[in-house]
Amino acid sequence: MDTTALQAQNVRVTYDGHEALKGVTLDIPRNQITALIGASGSGKSTFLRTLNRMHDVTPSAAMSGSITFNGHNILDKDTDVIELRTKIGMVFQHPVPFPKSTFDNVAYGLRIQGERAPRSRGVVKLLGKRMIDWKKLEASTDRMESTVVQSLKDAALWDEVKERLHLSALRLSGGQKQRLCIARMIAVRPDVLLLDEPCSALDPISTRKIEDLLMKLKEKYTIVIVTHNMQQAKRIADYTGFFHMGELVEFDATKKIFEEAEKQLTRNYVKGYFG
Ligand SMILES: Nc1ncnc2c1ncn2[C@@H]1O[C@H](COP(=O)(O)OP(=O)(O)OP(=O)(O)O)[C@@H](O)[C@H]1O
Ligand SMILES: [Mg+2]
Repeated sequence: MDTTALQAQNVRVTYDGHEALKGVTLDIPRNQITALIGASGSGKSTFLRTLNRMHDVTPSAAMSGSITFNGHNILDKDTDVIELRTKIGMVFQHPVPFPKSTFDNVAYGLRIQGERAPRSRGVVKLLGKRMIDWKKLEASTDRMESTVVQSLKDAALWDEVKERLHLSALRLSGGQKQRLCIARMIAVRPDVLLLDEPCSALDPISTRKIEDLLMKLKEKYTIVIVTHNMQQAKRIADYTGFFHMGELVEFDATKKIFEEAEKQLTRNYVKGYFG
């Protein structure tokens, strides 16, 4: 199997003509965690957003270069962007659950995909929306329902929410919302997970949960995470890319970046001389 999940070549992004990304070339390894680090404004989020065409919703943004994914250039005009975003999912710094129940948040993408088996006899439908019997749901053979349960388990959230699946997801804590957004993303079985500073608003315990989760998820997914937390990058990332003023200065195994980077700029940054 190809060991590269995404191949970015000379990716440039401008906002209103101002160059934010100045030709980034990078192979993102499959089933590994890649961390993107660098000072504020260096282009990390801009790069991450190109990977699933989030710039499409920003009229001032223009992209060039190529990003090869499954033999296809994501940046091509004919890319089915909706489909792309189910293959390359993204969670943001501030998780935004839909104003729906926890269950419906995770089921949302599946319903869109029409995964609900014909004449489904799922327990949620039988019980109505008021209360969900989690034991019945856990034993459900309905494809959509079992995927919701599995996704919540994979996101290490099931035990915390199983008794209130019917309640609004907006009532969850910040760390729970973050894991819910991860569950929602993995429910549609993407290949690549993009996470933009997913732990920046979380306490150390919730942060650790997300980190443990990502370490587990990399068996199934390719993960790209933007982080300002150097310890986090060291703890979880196999590879690290250092951005500076719109350029990818250096990309290498995490240990190399933090212990013996090639470039002085990288060495200074990871030592915390500026940032
Ligand atoms: N929607 C936008 N419109 C105009 N300029 C933007 C937009 N988004 C980002 N920029 C500019 O592009 C450059 C790169 O921003 P980006 O958000 O990618 O940085 P970052 O590395 O993610 O920073 P941070 O660590 O603060 O999140 C910055 O100069 C920023 O001001
Ligand atoms: Mg950013």
